[in-house]
Amino acid sequence: MTLAATVFAPAYAKINLTLAVLGRRADGYHRLASVMQTISLHDTLRLRLASADRFDCDIAALATPDNLVTRAAEALRAEVGRPDLAAEIELHKAVPAQAGLGGGSSDAATTLVALNALWGLGLSLARLESLAARLGSDTPYLIHGGTARIEGRGEVVEPLPDAEPLWLVLVKPPVDISTPTIFRALTPADYGDAADTEAVIAAIRAGRPLPFDQLTNTLERGVLRAYPEVLGVRELLLNVGASLVIMSGSGPSLFAPYRTLGEAASLAERARAHGLNPWLCHSVTRAQVAASRAMQSASDQGNQM
Ligand code: C5P
Repeated sequence: MTLAATVFAPAYAKINLTLAVLGRRADGYHRLASVMQTISLHDTLRLRLASADRFDCDIAALATPDNLVTRAAEALRAEVGRPDLAAEIELHKAVPAQAGLGGGSSDAATTLVALNALWGLGLSLARLESLAARLGSDTPYLIHGGTARIEGRGEVVEPLPDAEPLWLVLVKPPVDISTPTIFRALTPADYGDAADTEAVIAAIRAGRPLPFDQLTNTLERGVLRAYPEVLGVRELLLNVGASLVIMSGSGPSLFAPYRTLGEAASLAERARAHGLNPWLCHSVTRAQVAASRAMQSASDQGNQM
């Protein structure tokens, strides 16, 4: 008996080190300037060659045919005109959904990369990126991850040198936020410029520490105004000693960046003592994401021998 090729693949979450909304486009999307960073918090996919599709997720509400994982598999099959290809995919969620952490987008990006290898399609990562753009604004970036400048509606990705490595205390306030609602509520008075994003990019390119006071998010003010739960968690983190708390994406997740484990662990412990449920995680470089992808093709070949 031969084992069908099987891979386990991590799908890393992202945070926005900066996020500037510059204006509204004619198609209803917004023009963004952002620096994104992958982090160690991740979902895990198991993908296996099969004669028929099967998809399961340990969060029952997400085990549906419109999950981005299923849609990514379908998009890849359509792209190469191979309706015969099939896979069994299991998704273990650790990244909260609708949290501003790119969880679903990363699941989709990881599915594209892993199935490209499992099905032996040999598509370039550039082609997977353009396929990914049809699945969500963050998805092309998450094909490579690491530190990157994001522009357009999110699909224009420029890889940057690795940002300063950081420990992160990450909290998801107990509220679900719909991204379209947050963007729709913006008025021209809310739009910002890309000055902080450019300053952060200049520091990254020069190999300098990140200017923490320029880690800013245009969407944060509106979310704090509209969702008292998010404001409450932010204030609690500041009250127990965080010096900086920033919202990721369209929220509600908040992160506090640290340069030493001691400081991060101490904040996480105090947050826990006050009833929060923080993750202590860290930034993940593009090379680490690539290494996790390379291991997928290695285990694929190992199984086929
Ligand atoms: O592309 P994605 O599905 O991630 O975006 C979700 C929603 O967020 C869009 O339908 C749109 O309402 C809003 N959005 C936006 N401008 C962006 C990205 C997202 O208005 N650049």
